[in-house]
Amino acid sequence: MKRDLVILGAQWGDEGKGKVVDLLSADFDVAVRYQGGSNAGHTVVVGGERFVLHLLPTGILHEHTIGVVAQGMVVDLELLVGELEELEGRGLRIYDRLFISDRAHLVMPYHKVLDSLFERRGKIGTTLRGIGPSYMFKYGRKGIRVCDLEDPDRTYRLIKENLEFVQDLCEKVYCENHSLNLEEMFEKIMEYYKRIRGRVTDTTQWLLKFEGSVLFEGAQGTMLDIDMGTYPFVTSSNASALGLSNGTGLPPKYFSTANFWAVSKAYATRVGEGPFPTELTDEKGEQLRERGGEYGATTGRPRRCGWLDLVVLKHAVEVNGLDGLILTKLDVLDGFEEIKVCVAYELDGQVFDHFPAGLSKLSKVAPIYKSFKGWLRNTRGARSFSELPKEALQYLQFIQDYLGVSLVMLSTGPEREEYFWLQEPAWREGEKTRKVF
Ligand code: GDP
Ligand code: IMO
Ligand code: MG
Repeated sequence: MKRDLVILGAQWGDEGKGKVVDLLSADFDVAVRYQGGSNAGHTVVVGGERFVLHLLPTGILHEHTIGVVAQGMVVDLELLVGELEELEGRGLRIYDRLFISDRAHLVMPYHKVLDSLFERRGKIGTTLRGIGPSYMFKYGRKGIRVCDLEDPDRTYRLIKENLEFVQDLCEKVYCENHSLNLEEMFEKIMEYYKRIRGRVTDTTQWLLKFEGSVLFEGAQGTMLDIDMGTYPFVTSSNASALGLSNGTGLPPKYFSTANFWAVSKAYATRVGEGPFPTELTDEKGEQLRERGGEYGATTGRPRRCGWLDLVVLKHAVEVNGLDGLILTKLDVLDGFEEIKVCVAYELDGQVFDHFPAGLSKLSKVAPIYKSFKGWLRNTRGARSFSELPKEALQYLQFIQDYLGVSLVMLSTGPEREEYFWLQEPAWREGEKTRKVF
């Protein structure tokens, strides 16, 4: 029987998707990235060795896995080639296990120039990886796709037109000059293309014909989704389940038998600007940042930290139609005497538990908290339910009951092995499906 799994971020990204996808990929044949680009930073730690993947699907770290860079991604070929070579340099065979969509759009150097310029007026706090401008060009029908590179004359002409447009924008709107050179840009992109050309294919057709198991790896998180997140403080793709079909080119029906799981930290973080109702700007926030090592895997920026927000997670459950939730970084809460969880928002005397669309509302909501007694015991590296203090179990039970969705797995440290199942999935052969609570 065909079985697929979708792993999404339930919060504002950096939930630990990389760690989770890596360990789950052991059970899958194919790993697919389908939206976003090198703004993602997915960390995996194996035997003390750290890998951060930006463009390649995390699952590709397993020798048996085929990795797919699907059409909804915006691909910076220089970084893709760099990532490929870095991993091969570390002894992993990647090239012949990779497929790259011929329909994927490119991130070009002028997109990065524009990303910086746009940030000067109305800061979003982007990763400056050219993601927003690349999607702007895609939807403005000025994009260059991987398949265009097969025709160097067409590529040259598209780059030329785009550069002229960007030049005008820089000069006339921002009163700036850029130092981008057409010939150099063209030569470089053709050079990078040569390196990956043998792996370019119609990945939609390939996936439609493939009969094994596929894991779809979301990047960013539901609250950064262009439609369902805290717009305009979002990324420029559908980072929720909404992005699966357009990101892969697969019909919505394809996913009707898939499992949809999302990853959340046991608290909350966000990097960049934008609403964050449960943010802690005091020493507790600092404690979370230091204990959790909350510094961006892509940009190194300190992440904003706060208590877990169940209004946000409920939004994620609904938008993504979640079948399960994976909780990470429980161990980071080990040192807290009191742990709070947001269960509703209050605004002008009204209490509600749905995530509002409008920024002006969001900037004024006050979180309503439920307080939990901290466990003040080490849970780092716990490998079974029985190793958890009862206070931690109460915390987990409350989250599950509130959301009405099973907690399927708990991650208790960054290492691949530091986790355990709370509900064993049916596909794990030889092991009975059992539920802890
Ligand atoms: P992603 O973007 O969702 O893949 O997450 P990142 O890799 O950007 O950030 C998650 C960080 O938390 C990484 O440094 C991981 O190594 C680390 N991490 C993941 N799970 C755990 C956990 O259960 N406990 C602790 N302490 N760290 C974790
Ligand atoms: P992973 O996959 C956390 C944030 C940026 C900024 C906003 C827009 O590692 O979870 P962009 O460069 O995409 O235009 O920036 O989105 N952002 C992320 N935050 N994790 C990510 O990816 C992110 N990718 C983008 O900080 O606020
Ligand atoms: Mg990340």
